[in-house]
Amino acid sequence: MEHKHHGKSSEKFLDSHEILSELNLAGSETFMDAGCGDGYISKKAIEEFLPEGKVYAVDVYDEAIAELEEYKEKNHISNLISICADLACEIPDVNDESVDVILMINVFHGFKASDEMDEVVLNLRKLLKNGGKFAIVEFKPIEMQFGPPLEIRCSHAELENLFEKHGFRKVHLNVEIGEDVAEGKSHFMIIFEKE
Ligand SMILES: C[S@@+](CC[C@H](N)C(=O)[O-])C[C@H]1O[C@@H](n2cnc3c(N)ncnc32)[C@H](O)[C@@H]1O
Repeated sequence: MEHKHHGKSSEKFLDSHEILSELNLAGSETFMDAGCGDGYISKKAIEEFLPEGKVYAVDVYDEAIAELEEYKEKNHISNLISICADLACEIPDVNDESVDVILMINVFHGFKASDEMDEVVLNLRKLLKNGGKFAIVEFKPIEMQFGPPLEIRCSHAELENLFEKHGFRKVHLNVEIGEDVAEGKSHFMIIFEKE
C-alpha cells in the first residue's frame, strides 16, 4: 500500500518539549530523529536538550534534508548531521551501536503500509548501543478527523509484540499525547530499550 508524507510536520499538534522531556536526556547523548520531516524535533533537541550531544536527522525526502542543511549553516550548528536515507536500508555515516536514542514521530505507520516493519526495527536496532532507547510516537488506531487511514495505524500492543520479538523490552508508555479527540488524546508514545 502506497503511503507517503514527504515534508509533513507534526509541529502544530504535538508538543516537542513534552515528547523530548519524556526521554530523560542527560545532554550528551547521540540521538536520531528518524523520519525527521522539517526537523522541528531535531532543532528543539539541539537547542534545549542536547547541548553536548549529537543529532542525526534522517529522512528519505531530499528537500527536507536540504532545508536542514541550510538551517545548520546559517546557525553555525556543528552537532546536527542531516542524512538523506531510507530507514529500511543502509543508513550512511552512522556506525553500528553508536546511537543512544532513536525517536520516530508519525512515521512508523508508513512501514505498516509498506510491510517493512520488521526490516526497519532490525535495521535501526543495529545502530543502537546496548541499553539504547527506541521511542515511537504514533496516532492511536481510533476514528478521528485527521491522520493516516485506520488500517495502517498500529496499536501500542502491536508495537510491543513486534519490538519484543526483535530483542527490545518496553520501558515506558504514555497514552495521553497530542490533540483532544472524542476518546481522549490522539497519540501514544512508547519507549523500548535494546536488550
Ligand atoms: C508524517 S511525516 C513526520 C515528520 C516528523 N517526524 C514530524 O513528526 O514532523 C513522515 C516523514 O517520514 C519520512 N519517511 C517516510 N518513509 C521514510 C523512509 N522509508 N525513510 C526515511 N524517511 C521516511 C517522510 O519523508 C516524512 O518526512
